[in-house]
Amino acid sequence: MTRLDVLTVAGARPNFMKIAPLSWALSKLDGVRHRIVHTGQHYDPNMSGRFFEDLRIPEPWRNLNVGSGSHGRQTADVMARFEPLLEEDRPDVVVVVGDVNSTIACALVASKMGIKVAHVEAGLRSFDRSMPEEVNRILTDAISDVLYVTEASGVANLAREGVDPAKVVLAGNVMIDTLVEFRERARGSDITERLGVARKSYVTVTLHRPSNVDDPTKVVALVEMIRDVARRSPVVFPVHPRTRARIAAAGLDLAAVPGLHVCDPLGYVDFLALMDRSRLLMTDSGGVQEEACLLGVPCLTLRDNTERPVTCDVGVNRLVGSDPKAGLAAALEILERGPGAMSVPPLWDGRSATRIVGDLVARFGRPDSVS
Ligand code: UD1
Ligand code: UDP
Repeated sequence: MTRLDVLTVAGARPNFMKIAPLSWALSKLDGVRHRIVHTGQHYDPNMSGRFFEDLRIPEPWRNLNVGSGSHGRQTADVMARFEPLLEEDRPDVVVVVGDVNSTIACALVASKMGIKVAHVEAGLRSFDRSMPEEVNRILTDAISDVLYVTEASGVANLAREGVDPAKVVLAGNVMIDTLVEFRERARGSDITERLGVARKSYVTVTLHRPSNVDDPTKVVALVEMIRDVARRSPVVFPVHPRTRARIAAAGLDLAAVPGLHVCDPLGYVDFLALMDRSRLLMTDSGGVQEEACLLGVPCLTLRDNTERPVTCDVGVNRLVGSDPKAGLAAALEILERGPGAMSVPPLWDGRSATRIVGDLVARFGRPDSVS
């Protein structure tokens, strides 16, 4: 039997959908020990704990409880608290996902200790280094021993950066594995009834990128755009905690806007149901752009760039920047004319985690006799 000791890291909301299918696939293999470390970057029940229940993710082995802070502080806290865990019980490989501060922090600690690092969702590039995630992506990829890529653009980006092709695996998208697993269950959600919106009548909005919400002028303009969309179609807006704080600081009152249904961040199954029944998604989320492709719901991305260009290539996603006029015009066009032809990116088939886990065992597994 081959043995493998895997430690997977998760810290922020989008990490949980990515580690879930890895944990399901790892749990099926004899000889594999799998532990999860939660860094505590996100900690509210509706940004963290709920997803462990919803997605059947095993309890974390440890929680680093780092909480919120500046980039330097948060990244440093994760590093300082992660290192002793690796000293205490050294795995064969540390698996990090996505592009959040917890991703680079744990990859860096493991790499310096000579422990293999696997990066899931490697190679994506927005070519915009003002995004904290872009810095995290470039650095994590540079120190990873194996890079699992979701789309062909990522393979090309890594080749351009001189990464050894033997380390790069086009594996598909683990976030889509989770969607495929839960789509049927989401059909039973009563979220649209609870919010009082009719299926396929409304637009779902999410916003949390600092470039959109941390600048008071921009956040006011984007809320104005949401108001304008809500004059033409109901809008549902589950509000991320960063955005809620910025909207409050700007003195805006969303409760008073007709047609706008504001709620707290939703659990995965309810949010999946909400997206699936939407006429249109307007977002600056990375994950939502991808999920839109499987759901076949048109998506307008309120950013000037995307690190996920395949979502545009398949006809689902369109970049409209953060200019509210452009966002409104594009939304009205889709609401009036409907979406164009759409397709699903290659390998986004629900089996990415199985491919990744098979590759991890083949690369890093030890024969039973070697301790
Ligand atoms: C982080 C990630 C971002 C990801 C997003 C997903 C980084 C650099 N950013 O951004 O890539 O897209 O998560 O949602 O890693 N807060 C709470 N409760 C929580 C968590 C956060 O109230 O459970 C509030 C705090 O005021 C905090 C703020 O939200 O300061 C921002 O949280 P933080 O994790 O720093 O960044 P996000 O904007 O969530
Ligand atoms: N999501 C959720 N509830 C919400 C909003 C989003 O479960 O209220 C899910 C969404 O379906 C996707 C993930 O959160 O799986 C995306 O996370 P987020 O937008 O926070 O981060 P990003 O993908 O931009 O890094």
